[in-house]
Amino acid sequence: MRYRIEIFRKDRDNEKGYCQSFWYETESEAETVASALTALNEQSALSDTDGNTARKIEWDCSCLQKKCGACAMVINGVPRLACQAKLSEFPKGLIKLAPLSKFPVVCDLVVDRSIMFENLKTMKLWLTEDAVQTDKSQQLSFESSECIQCGCCLEICPNFYSGGKFYGMSAVPVTMRLLSESDKKASKEIIKQYAKHTFAGCGKSLACRNVCPKKIDTENLLVNANAIAIWKRF
Ligand code: FES
Repeated sequence: MRYRIEIFRKDRDNEKGYCQSFWYETESEAETVASALTALNEQSALSDTDGNTARKIEWDCSCLQKKCGACAMVINGVPRLACQAKLSEFPKGLIKLAPLSKFPVVCDLVVDRSIMFENLKTMKLWLTEDAVQTDKSQQLSFESSECIQCGCCLEICPNFYSGGKFYGMSAVPVTMRLLSESDKKASKEIIKQYAKHTFAGCGKSLACRNVCPKKIDTENLLVNANAIAIWKRF
């Protein structure tokens, strides 16, 4: 099957973006967007669908196993992991790739997601005391630990924007985990930060639930984080 891969590109030294398309042929059912990008970049002379010479496509990846979140991008309008999106999911053969729009674009499909990690630091999401584990907290911690901080939930969220007071769903799994494992005293500061940066800004659209590549039940985490945050105050 022949795919037309259309990429919204931006050069490092040029603010203006542009679209460039590439042909990619494969018969393999296992091929993903990530493997297609790798194969295109391996060509000795990359050229676009108009026959023009093109520079290599910049995109991020590390694990290629849905574990690091680095390859998150917008694929046919939906935030997804390139290493998870199979080409066979697009039988019409047109695949449109764009960088996540909620973060500054570095080049092509590479974005700077550091604000997401800075937000976690601002919320001081760590424990100074020993964790307290119960059967219930263990289950919630396990689900929370599935989060790979890819940023797909932030891309789809109508309330998140980079630099805003609302830190979005990506802050919830860590908060949830710490809240469920901390004693009342240690929870106090976490609850304060949670109320300020998550609880107050979430419009409960739950759009994040449909795009999480790890299929985390974000609604369940949110409900539990809210409940624990409320009850631990008393
Ligand atoms: S490369 Fe790690 S999640 Fe895709």
